[in-house]
Amino acid sequence: MDKYEKIIGMAKRRGFLWNSFELYGGTAGFYDYGPLGAMLKRRIEDIWRKMYVIEEGFYEIETPTIGIAAIFDASGHTRGFSDPMVVCSKCDHSFRADHLIEGIVETPDALPASEIKRLIDEHGIKCPQCGGTGTFGDVSSFNLMFKTTIGPGAERVGYLRPETAQGMFVDFEHLFRFYREKLPFGVTQIGKAYRNEISPRQGVIRLREFTQAEAEIFINPTEKNHPKFSMIEDTVLRYYPASHQRVSHPAHEDDGGIIELTTRDAVDRAIVAHEFLAYHLVLTHLFLVRVGIDPARMRFRQHQPDEMAHYAVDCWDAEVLTDRFGWVEIVGIADRTDYDLSSHAEHSKKDLSVLIEYDTPKQVERIAVKPDMGVIGPLYKGNAGKVLAALKGLGEEDLRGDEIKIEIDGEIVPIPRDLVEYETVIEEVRGERVIPHVIEPSFGIDRIIYAALEHSFSEELVAGVTRNVLHLPAEVAPVQVAVLPLLTRDELITPSLAIAETLRENGVFVSYDDSGTIGRRYRRNDEIGTPFSVTIDYDTLGDDTVTIRDRDSMAQIRMPIGELAETLRAMIRHGFSDAATRHNQIF
Ligand code: ATP
Ligand code: GLY
Repeated sequence: MDKYEKIIGMAKRRGFLWNSFELYGGTAGFYDYGPLGAMLKRRIEDIWRKMYVIEEGFYEIETPTIGIAAIFDASGHTRGFSDPMVVCSKCDHSFRADHLIEGIVETPDALPASEIKRLIDEHGIKCPQCGGTGTFGDVSSFNLMFKTTIGPGAERVGYLRPETAQGMFVDFEHLFRFYREKLPFGVTQIGKAYRNEISPRQGVIRLREFTQAEAEIFINPTEKNHPKFSMIEDTVLRYYPASHQRVSHPAHEDDGGIIELTTRDAVDRAIVAHEFLAYHLVLTHLFLVRVGIDPARMRFRQHQPDEMAHYAVDCWDAEVLTDRFGWVEIVGIADRTDYDLSSHAEHSKKDLSVLIEYDTPKQVERIAVKPDMGVIGPLYKGNAGKVLAALKGLGEEDLRGDEIKIEIDGEIVPIPRDLVEYETVIEEVRGERVIPHVIEPSFGIDRIIYAALEHSFSEELVAGVTRNVLHLPAEVAPVQVAVLPLLTRDELITPSLAIAETLRENGVFVSYDDSGTIGRRYRRNDEIGTPFSVTIDYDTLGDDTVTIRDRDSMAQIRMPIGELAETLRAMIRHGFSDAATRHNQIF
């Protein structure tokens, strides 16, 4: 049994994850979060909110999970958001065509359909389902968006959103006003995204419905220094730049090209293009470590130019090393430039540029065109307004010569030179209009949850018996404290229930457990990652003290019930040893 099987087995048994619709046989690409999984997910999302919404000040919004076709026409998803697919003519199963030739070429996802087909044939690739060779038809392009109709009948096409991002771009005008028309500003959204993945065979790694936590940070394209860069510049990350990659497919390459650098060095040596991007790589790193990802099994891999999404000029993936799947992307941090806002401006015919004010207004020379409307009006009649507007938009160059040419409704219209006078005027200009650029960290919460489970999982031999432990950080563990009477006796159960109640009133999430031996209950709690257990024994009845057991070290300390809630809260924040040391100083 590999680690993946062990973890998924535990997750199903203990109530973290269940296959959706299992009662009816289930279907690939959907998972339910059971009681412990839902709690773990909420805690991870809450930490994300703490870091991005509260600490960075990026307000959260909520937009529909269905979008109208116009949005995805503008974003490029209706055209380009597709994967290459082949179908086996023998067993009728569909496959991601590029996944079938992984390991044969460096960048399978960058190849055209015809080339993928040629390689499948040339290498005699077998159908992974039925083992047939030569059974694959042509490679087609499969759009990953789920299509639906809005309203009765088929009059309006809609799509389930493939990313939460578009809702934030579409609201840009409102957001810019909300942020009092100043850049930079950030906005966030946590919610479901949908992709009709061709053949999801990797459990929670590749789902058809999953949760994204995304931040869109709108910046002035000429100001890419980050105001808080000095606070994170010494943080060391493991970078895997595009130029260091020998093979560009993440799951199979060796990682000899990873370099560990401070963020300051990474920017100074132009490994990371600018401070804004670098700041968000660090923030991503800090978040991932805080929720339980092992920094030694994490790296930031830069995309190769030919694997970049259609909207990005630069992209770094936070990848984690997994036992079964190799390196897996869990977060993508992209420089989306002005791609989305420009495209929405073009499609919606709305001006989405913003004024970046100069520190002090500039005096600028300008040509003021003065058409003779006494003649132009009667001469061009209904078109006179358009002629006037076109003339006002001309520059000095256009006004030279005997005849002036303007364009009205796509047609070139000559205007006699003597109908137009012009002069040079000095004008005060407050600033410059630009389309903001976007830096986007995009987190896949489900993949992060799996990675946190795998990285925190260990099997430890204690006195000849294996204990399975999830060393999850206390802040994300679904159950924070287990309250356990040493024996299942009424005289111990009654005070135990009272202690559990007091802890709940103090905001600690507690489970009460009195079934089985104490050893079994400790093991059960170790397996689900409960960081602290409180045991009530016969001494408790005499001196009102209990023990706290630490999951990781299995060390125990004894303390008065009156101090319990406060100490446990401190332990959840600072860890067992830190809080235990302070406690011993107090008592
Ligand atoms: P992949 O190459 O693995 O399909 P992607 O490059 O399409 O991923 P992005 O489009 O960058 O992924 O999406 C941002 C994040 O959303 C990813 O880092 C990942 O964590 C998550 N994500 C994307 N697709 C899925 C999926 N099918 N199931 C679960 N999470 C996903
Ligand atoms: N918003 C980035 C992505 O989902 O691809």
